[in-house]
Amino acid sequence: MKAVVVEQYAPIDQIGLQETGMPVAGPGQVRVRVQAASIGFVDGLKVEGRYQTKDPLPFTPGAEFAGVVDAVADDVTRFTPGMRVMGAARSGALAEYIAVPATAVEIMPDGLSMEAAAAFRTNYLTALYALGERGTLRAGEQLLVLGAAGGTGIAAIQIGKLLGARVIAAASTEEKRNFAARFGADAVVDYTRADWRDALKDATGGHGADVIFDPVGGEVSLQAFRSIAWNGRHLVVGFAAGTIPALPFNLPLLKGGLLIGVDVAQIARREPEAQTRVMTQLSTWLNDGKLVPVVGHVFAFEDFRAAFRTMQTRAALGKMVVRIGS
Ligand SMILES: NC(=O)c1ccc[n+]([C@@H]2O[C@H](COP(=O)([O-])OP(=O)(O)OC[C@H]3O[C@@H](n4cnc5c(N)ncnc54)[C@H](OP(=O)(O)O)[C@@H]3O)[C@@H](O)[C@H]2O)c1
Repeated sequence: MKAVVVEQYAPIDQIGLQETGMPVAGPGQVRVRVQAASIGFVDGLKVEGRYQTKDPLPFTPGAEFAGVVDAVADDVTRFTPGMRVMGAARSGALAEYIAVPATAVEIMPDGLSMEAAAAFRTNYLTALYALGERGTLRAGEQLLVLGAAGGTGIAAIQIGKLLGARVIAAASTEEKRNFAARFGADAVVDYTRADWRDALKDATGGHGADVIFDPVGGEVSLQAFRSIAWNGRHLVVGFAAGTIPALPFNLPLLKGGLLIGVDVAQIARREPEAQTRVMTQLSTWLNDGKLVPVVGHVFAFEDFRAAFRTMQTRAALGKMVVRIGS
């Protein structure tokens, strides 16, 4: 089978497609014929060996995928060959086949395309866990989404609307702000402008943001916190800008605001009931047609490098997806 193989940590341009052996579904595992895989921020760091944990070499990048079950171990009863599933693994998704524990895949809701299923899980789980469970976003509140046209940002706009909030999207280009508006933002602001907090103040009718969804970090996070409403919640999701900001402790005091961390990687272990609640709600919205996941650019398998480059050059709209097989 064909797979992207990282033999040495290196920029994506130095990584290639190779013929490798077929994975085998070991005890408790299923093998999936991958049809689409999505590229996240972390995948780019892992390929270059810059992520906090390093995958042992050689490895195949890609954590999220959708496809068709191809083989199941004797001890697995929930799945049979031919089922359409979506899943997440530590790595290995940029390949024609992947073998993973049966617990790592879920049956795809009806009506979801392979591309949408591959782009769905992490971003929407993050958005609903952050806004619903951590930020307790309520109907009628004002939600500010930073990096609003990115993978988690666009999911946060859609989830914010489904929870009944008024959503203000902050993004760096007109194309990105239009993209955010297309998927539900009620107002947009250009947070590259020095006076963007004035625009935010206008957009919230002088109230400030009740909840801030922040996957960006850096200076913009500090400015956003200064615009938080009384009893507001600033959700720390990620640091796409590359800098971890340091918040002076007097600001939460003066603003009556909360800084709240969000890490979906830990919830299966620490809050399994929250994960179940969130996934059940997402499935209901998907099945009811209330939530249609956003698919960013779709790339052919042999163009996987372009998917990484688009994300790494801040040019991505939504999540980048690689189509594998037919
Ligand atoms: N805590 C969690 O559980 C969790 C879950 C998923 C992801 N994350 C993290 O959240 C962060 C964002 O993930 P994502 O999938 O939303 O990423 P993404 O699709 O690449 O979007 C990130 C956004 O950040 C903005 N940005 C600002 N400065 C940037 C820079 N120097 N380079 C790239 N982007 C920059 C960009 O918007 P503008 O151009 O409009 O500024 C971009 O659209 C990552 O750090 C990721 O690891 C955390």
